[in-house]
Amino acid sequence: MVALSDQEYHLFQRYIAEKCGIALDENKAYLVESRLAKLLIDAKCDSFSELFLLLQNHSDANIETRVIDAITTNETYWFRDPGAWQMITKVWLPQKIAAFQAGRCEKIRVWSAAASTGQEIYSLVIHICEYLKNNQITTVTLDDFEFVATDISSSVLSIARRGHYDPITIMRGLKADLREAYFKREGTSWVLDEAYRKRVRFESFNLQNSFLLLGSFDLVFCRNVLIYFTDALRRDVLKKTVKILKPEGVLLIGAAEIYYAMDDYFDKNLTSDGTYFTVKEATK
Ligand SMILES: C[S@@+](CC[C@H](N)C(=O)[O-])C[C@H]1O[C@@H](n2cnc3c(N)ncnc32)[C@H](O)[C@@H]1O
Repeated sequence: MVALSDQEYHLFQRYIAEKCGIALDENKAYLVESRLAKLLIDAKCDSFSELFLLLQNHSDANIETRVIDAITTNETYWFRDPGAWQMITKVWLPQKIAAFQAGRCEKIRVWSAAASTGQEIYSLVIHICEYLKNNQITTVTLDDFEFVATDISSSVLSIARRGHYDPITIMRGLKADLREAYFKREGTSWVLDEAYRKRVRFESFNLQNSFLLLGSFDLVFCRNVLIYFTDALRRDVLKKTVKILKPEGVLLIGAAEIYYAMDDYFDKNLTSDGTYFTVKEATK
């Protein structure tokens, strides 16, 4: 295996910080070396310096895409963090549906800001269907929601768009009855029914960019992504999220995530039904 020198590591470290906002510590050289090893072979490069030159020359856009795909961590699963789903059931959905029924809201808009392979946003689509069915609500349907899901990595987005999951991935967090009701078997894999897949608009989006063209949202999932960013980018993402949340809009971060900058922009709502963040009055 070709070794990555300290000097080469620093070149990639800076490149990744600039392109994705991902802060790689000094001790992450092994990660870059192992994750780029296959690309090095595919690109027929004898060294990491040669691969870096290809990136710099912009001679092959595919190389850049593959570096981003390889470096980003795409871990996700169905109905991740039970507290989030309890809060959605007990707090967010009842409030949103009441507002919709009272004519105070036209479309209920949701953004999954680091969507990975789609489990987060598709879990929500399934969860809403179940909620409406279990509560016999017929005045609100999936048509009244808009689901936007974005990620910087094009390979995860293409999996998400296909809604096609292997036998291990489908099992991680998804109950068998929901799998049977919402997916079709295809060989050993499972595909989310077209009726639900088509509800979600998947787009490539870098969280370093301006959020303003995305419109405003009632719920933003920004879970398990800030953890990879520099402090400056975390703060920037939080600040931009304030601007695109509707009044009473809710932000969800990962259950294990704690950021000191949160308090500057958001109130933490700690309830028996889960934790969620709303924009601080003073920052509106
Ligand atoms: C660990 S996954 C989180 C998936 C999901 N939100 C969850 O909590 O299960 C993090 C995702 O963030 C994406 N990501 C990393 N840097 C990004 C950036 N600058 N802009 C947008 N997405 C980014 C990665 O590609 C990856 O799919």
